[in-house]
Amino acid sequence: MSVRHFLKVPDLSKAEFDHVLEQAAVWKRSPLSDILSGKTVALIFGKPSTRTRVSFSVGVYQLGGMPLYLSEQELQMRKSESIEDTARVLSRYVDAIVIRTFAKRDVEDLASASSVPVINALTDEDHPCQALADMFTFMERFPDPVGRKIAYLGDGNNVAASLAEAGAMAGVDICLCVPQGFDLPEEKSAGIARLASEHGTRFWVERDPEAAAQGASALYTDVWVSMGQQQDSGKLEAMQPYRVDSHLLALARPDAVVLHCLPAHRGEEITDEVIDGPQSAVFDEAENRLHVQKSLMAYLLAGR
Ligand code: CP
Ligand code: NVA
Repeated sequence: MSVRHFLKVPDLSKAEFDHVLEQAAVWKRSPLSDILSGKTVALIFGKPSTRTRVSFSVGVYQLGGMPLYLSEQELQMRKSESIEDTARVLSRYVDAIVIRTFAKRDVEDLASASSVPVINALTDEDHPCQALADMFTFMERFPDPVGRKIAYLGDGNNVAASLAEAGAMAGVDICLCVPQGFDLPEEKSAGIARLASEHGTRFWVERDPEAAAQGASALYTDVWVSMGQQQDSGKLEAMQPYRVDSHLLALARPDAVVLHCLPAHRGEEITDEVIDGPQSAVFDEAENRLHVQKSLMAYLLAGR
C-alpha cells in the first residue's frame, strides 16, 4: 500500500475525516498512549510557529514517540541538496515528516519522494491541520453542524481555503467575506465549490460583512497579512470593514462562536472585546490543535 500523506483537507475521505475528528475527542479525554513508541517524527519549520510546533511536539511525546525539531534554515534542503533527496534520507531515519514552509509545491515534492507520511503544517496555500481543529471546535459547540453557516471575514488565504474545505466535508455552509481583489486563487475556489457540491453544502463569496454575519453560527477571522507577505497599506485599508467586532458579532446568531487560528493582531482583524469575550472559542481552538493532530498521527502512522 502506498504511503498516506496529509497535504490538504480532502486528502482524507469523508469517512476518514469523520474518524479523525471523532477520535480527537477520545484523545482529548484520554491523552496518553504508547502507539508511537520507538517512532520519531521530524518537524521541519521554515516559518515561525508557536501552536503548531508545540502541539506537534507535545502530541508526539504524549503518544510515546520522539519529536525532532528541524529548522529549515539549518537543513541542507534546497541549499546543498534537492527537497527530494532530503525526503529520501529522512525517510530512512524517521517515521513521519511534518513540514511548514512557503510553497505548496515544495511540500508536494517532499511527499513525492518520501516513503513515510508527510503532514502539511502550513504553506502559503493551505493550513489543513488548523482546519481540522477549527471544525472539531465548531462541532464541540454545535454537535449538529450540518446546514449551519460559518462566515470567514478577512483575507482569502491559506486558513480560509482549508476552513472552506473542512466545512464542506463537515456539512457546514461557508461564506467567504473578503474584499474584492483578495479572493482565493480561482483554481482553489473552483476546487472548494466542487467539494461543497459533492457534499451538498453551500460555499459562496459575500462582499458585505453585515450580510455575511447574519445567521452565522461562527465568525472566523485571521491576520490580514500572512507570514512571508509584504505589508500593504492599500490592503489594510480595504480590510477595515471586515474587522470582527461586537457590532458584527451582534448580527450573527445569539449563540454564535468566534474563531481565530491565532496569532491575532488585536485591533486589526479582531477587537479585544470579541476575542476575550464570552462568545470566543479561540483558546479552545488553539488547544484542540493538539488533540486533532494526535488523532491524525494515530490514524496515519498507526492505523488507529
Ligand atoms: N495557528 C497556527 O498555526 O499558529 P502558529 O503559527 O503559532 O503555529
Ligand atoms: N494566514 C496566517 C496563518 C498563521 C497561522 C499565515 O499564513 O501567516
